[in-house]
Amino acid sequence: MATLRLGDTAPDFTQDSSVGPIHFHQWAGDSWVVLFSHPADFTPVCTTELGRTAALSGEFARRGVKPIALSVDPVDKHQQWIGDINETQNTTVDFPILADADRTVSELYDLIHPNASATATVRSVFFIDPNKKVRATLTYPASTGRNFDELLRVIDSLQLTDSHKVATPADWTDGDDVVILPSLQDPAEIAQRFPKGHKAVKPYLRLTPQPNK
Ligand code: BEZ
Repeated sequence: MATLRLGDTAPDFTQDSSVGPIHFHQWAGDSWVVLFSHPADFTPVCTTELGRTAALSGEFARRGVKPIALSVDPVDKHQQWIGDINETQNTTVDFPILADADRTVSELYDLIHPNASATATVRSVFFIDPNKKVRATLTYPASTGRNFDELLRVIDSLQLTDSHKVATPADWTDGDDVVILPSLQDPAEIAQRFPKGHKAVKPYLRLTPQPNK
């Protein structure tokens, strides 16, 4: 499989998981999905990442997002590891962990980067929309745990910019001012879409209060 690019359809698959076999597109249904991979079970950084995801369960649900993790270990190891995660991170893992022991999903999603490790999957994240399109990706090495607030921030940006003619600037978080798309030039439409007004710092840099707040 060639590298997945933004706008590509997220490959469908059937794979075993900690909650039984997952038929991916069917499982995703009409939800957004955050699919994220891990190097291995019983590793320290991954343990904290999965605990953090479980702790943010309500935040993912509020945004209509289903998280799904992947590790290349089998289901019985996942079950033991989930016990450790729940114990040490004081959480309840309530999302599936794909048991990708045969590397089906790892190959489809290009999760093994041989010049980093011949066998371990990297820490990738795929943000997949309800049309099953890949909308954003992140890839980190095994040694760097991800920032799960950033995953929520990316979802917030994707969902906001899907429904309003805006983009989100550097370090934006939900509720901050946003920028009006440069393609939007009609003054009447700008006034209608952004009734709270806007500030033109430069003709191409126009800030406006977040329109859905
Ligand atoms: C970890 O998840 O803690 C980890 C995995 C592989 C290498 C280093 C850290």
